[in-house]
Amino acid sequence: MPRQKLKHFAEMKEWTHVFEPTLNRAERLETAGTWGPRVIVELACGGGNYTVALAERFPDSTVIGVDIKGSRMWHGARLALERGFSSVRFLRILIEDLAQYFAPAEVDEIWITFPDPHPTLGNAKRRLTSPRFLEIYKKILKPGGRVHLKTDNEALFDYSVESFREAGFEELRVLRDVYAEGFVDPLLQEVQTAYEQKYLKEGRKIRYGEFRVA
Ligand SMILES: C[S@@+](CC[C@H](N)C(=O)[O-])C[C@H]1O[C@@H](n2cnc3c(N)ncnc32)[C@H](O)[C@@H]1O
Repeated sequence: MPRQKLKHFAEMKEWTHVFEPTLNRAERLETAGTWGPRVIVELACGGGNYTVALAERFPDSTVIGVDIKGSRMWHGARLALERGFSSVRFLRILIEDLAQYFAPAEVDEIWITFPDPHPTLGNAKRRLTSPRFLEIYKKILKPGGRVHLKTDNEALFDYSVESFREAGFEELRVLRDVYAEGFVDPLLQEVQTAYEQKYLKEGRKIRYGEFRVA
């Protein structure tokens, strides 16, 4: 492993706002039910810049970036320290295991930002908006809790809108071009994730959906 990566991993082990329960099994028992009175979770947070941006916008919430890739997560975890945001956490786990780390009805909002589309039918169950994942989100969301999805991928977006509907979520907003001329929503337009910046440069449209659990 490159020396830089080893250094980053060693740093993360010391940071109290980073939870890596696959390395420290005790954390699995400690986290559920303890995140705070108002909780926002960003799934597939990658480099975590959006997690930190959410924390800046919602100072009364604990904002938790979740991803399995530690090397990407380090950047967001470092940024949170540099900016002095004490309400940011990073949780390095498989999203399949999410319900082990959150109590039932503990989470107010979930963001899913540019998840891997897994375009082949055989891999559909790995999509973060497939039925088995939506059932996990339902468990940890408070009644009336919301899921926000941002993606460039039209097929994944269409699949997800249908998937949320079938799982009983209420559709609050479906936008097929977040940056369309004349449309202004600072929350959706002012901060871009790393993948979003790349896709925007390629001229792709960004889709957004907001869904509420019953
Ligand atoms: C395409 S990247 C998007 C990263 C970031 N949201 C962005 O927009 O820049 C997808 C991320 O999802 C993470 N990921 C995919 N499936 C996952 C899973 N089942 N559990 C945890 N992380 C997952 C990957 O590690 C990767 O960082």
